[in-house]
Amino acid sequence: MVQIREASPSDYEGMLSVARSLPEWFNEQGLREMAADLRTHHGFVAVRRTGAEEQVVDFVTWLPRVGDVNLVELTWLGVTPQFQGRGLGRRLVEAVADRCGQIGVSVMEVTTLADSVDYAPYARTRAFYRKLGFRDWRVDADFYGPGDDRLVLRKYL
Ligand SMILES: CC(C)(COP(=O)(O)OP(=O)(O)OC[C@H]1O[C@@H](n2cnc3c(N)ncnc32)[C@H](O)[C@@H]1OP(=O)(O)O)[C@@H](O)C(=O)NCCC(=O)NCCS
Repeated sequence: MVQIREASPSDYEGMLSVARSLPEWFNEQGLREMAADLRTHHGFVAVRRTGAEEQVVDFVTWLPRVGDVNLVELTWLGVTPQFQGRGLGRRLVEAVADRCGQIGVSVMEVTTLADSVDYAPYARTRAFYRKLGFRDWRVDADFYGPGDDRLVLRKYL
């Protein structure tokens, strides 16, 4: 059985393991940045329980936007490959949306590689966010490097 709950420091290693299982999305630099961010960002994890053992199978992290009390940013998200396509990614994003409702925030924002960058894995990521109701908000040209444009998507709750 897979359950979603708030992430705690004891989950950080499990969250990083999930990210390591997704090398097409998270390179070494990304993993280093994620490890640092986990200490200060909020998060939810989905855990699978087998007896007394718990395994983190996916996670999302988020952060209120400094200077905009009405916006929360999704910062990192990953679902272990074997657990993809079962609705877990949607449930995690919905957990953040529920929290937004509790704290009176009405906009969720996420950033990812733009359509102009020919890299298939992130086409799947964009399709996922759009399916969940995120809409293209802005493209930041060359944000990640020459030709590597960034897409900003927003969902109004
Ligand atoms: C993107 C990701 C989080 C999706 O998680 P998931 O658990 O596989 O997605 P879900 O099963 O919850 O799918 C939710 C909806 O998105 C749709 N969807 C998911 N992937 C899709 C794709 N590649 N194309 C079209 N729709 C897609 C599903 O059909 C589903 O729609 P429904 O709820 O109306 O049936 C997961 O594939 C992943 O970890 N990808 C690699 C890391 C990544 O992209 N992280 C985010 C950027 S840093």
